[in-house]
Amino acid sequence: MAQLAAIVLAAGQGTRMRSRRAKVLHKVCGKPMIGHVVDSLRRAGVREIVVVVGHQGEKVKEAVGPGVEFVWQREQLGTGHAVSMAKDIFAGHEGHVLVLAGDTPLLTPGTLKELGDAGRGLAAAILTARMPKPRGYGRIIREADGTVLGIVEERDASPAQLAVDEVNTGTYIFRSQDLFPALGRLRPDNAQGEYYLTDVIGLLVQEGKRVGSLQCKDWQEAMGINDRVQLAFAEGVLRERIRRELMLRGVTIYHPESVFIDLDVEVGQDTIIYPFCFLEGRTVVGEDCVIGPGVRIIDCELGRGVEVQNATLVGSKIGDDVRIGPYAYLRPGNIIGEQVKIGDFVEVKNCRVGAGSKVPHLTYVGDAIIGERVNIGAGVITCNYDGRQKHQTIIEDDVFVGSNVNLIAPVTIRQGAYVAAGSTITKDVPPESLGIARARQDNREGWARKRKERADK
Ligand code: UD1
Ligand code: CA
Repeated sequence: MAQLAAIVLAAGQGTRMRSRRAKVLHKVCGKPMIGHVVDSLRRAGVREIVVVVGHQGEKVKEAVGPGVEFVWQREQLGTGHAVSMAKDIFAGHEGHVLVLAGDTPLLTPGTLKELGDAGRGLAAAILTARMPKPRGYGRIIREADGTVLGIVEERDASPAQLAVDEVNTGTYIFRSQDLFPALGRLRPDNAQGEYYLTDVIGLLVQEGKRVGSLQCKDWQEAMGINDRVQLAFAEGVLRERIRRELMLRGVTIYHPESVFIDLDVEVGQDTIIYPFCFLEGRTVVGEDCVIGPGVRIIDCELGRGVEVQNATLVGSKIGDDVRIGPYAYLRPGNIIGEQVKIGDFVEVKNCRVGAGSKVPHLTYVGDAIIGERVNIGAGVITCNYDGRQKHQTIIEDDVFVGSNVNLIAPVTIRQGAYVAAGSTITKDVPPESLGIARARQDNREGWARKRKERADK
């Protein structure tokens, strides 16, 4: 059998989303719907994928990325018309082709493979599902003996047809040589005045071609997303799938319903996730970590044994056994070494922090290179911005910066130096020295007593 190919329909606007953004670009668990569909096809082993784009086509192409072919449908005249845009690509194609909608993000590779098998030797096979509330879907019309006769769209259905709870999932497999000639015979004589792909099934049946079907075991998998209520539902289903898979692989999640993990996130064994956490984007969490409560991590890589609570971490790489929070904010560009402590009310941006260093409280460090075993006191601020440009602060190994110090960048504190509490440092501090820059204290003996005596007179 020739290689299985696929056509994904993604040209429509998705009016029911009431969005300025094309429907297939809306995200489910951090990934655009169209990305889910293309990924599932790839994981099902489909190599040749053609995506039909139209509405916001350039953005859709960008979201899908390389490795697939695109064809344009300039005017959205219906799903049948959309498939016919790929006709030239499939001229002379001998095998079968899967046809999917870009708005069914929950379909699994396993189901797509099964559908591929179900289509063997047939002109077409439809993936169907029994839905508890089949609102908005085309219904599968069968003969008394179960033979498929066709699909009728909800808007064109009679009351008896509407009562059918077996629906068209919008996913099919066709023999190419039967599909494309039939598309040429479609007529837009229906409630929407469109060229319906669904009518191809009836046409093939009328020609005496063999049409089969495969019923999806889990109807939720076959959900088409047309509006934001369905989007939220699909999100819930997929989030649950992700958490379940992680839990079965050895991650503890307390109160799973309050933990939101994106599709491509990895979490290591024996990591514990407390309630109210978000793990997003390309985040990787190592083994034996404790995350939460109240943590949001976006595009970060965490080593093993990291503990984070009540914190937001973005675009940072965190070494083993680091402690973060509560109430810390790591902005993009940080590389944090092993056994570092970043404590409460600390903001760190674009910094390298060496192993064993501590930034425990009430501090802002930005654009800094901090060595190993450095101690940064409470209330230290790297003054990295002069109103026009950002400047770098360098703090070498074994430095001790006392509390409430301003480090006016660019500035370097050399190895082993101390900076006295309350200093505003504008010049480099040499190795193993003390930098002190504060007004001298003057004690006026008896001042308060005399003031009181004056007042009592
Ligand atoms: C379609 C099916 C319906 C099925 C349902 C499953 C038809 C006529 N109806 O209805 O039987 O139950 O899917 O979810 O096929 N598209 C284009 N170009 C167009 C029109 C649509 O590329 O001209 C794309 C859309 O972007 C979308 C997909 O095709 O990704 C499906 O279109 P949509 O309008 O959502 O079809 P449904 O009304 O859901
Ligand atoms: Ca749809």
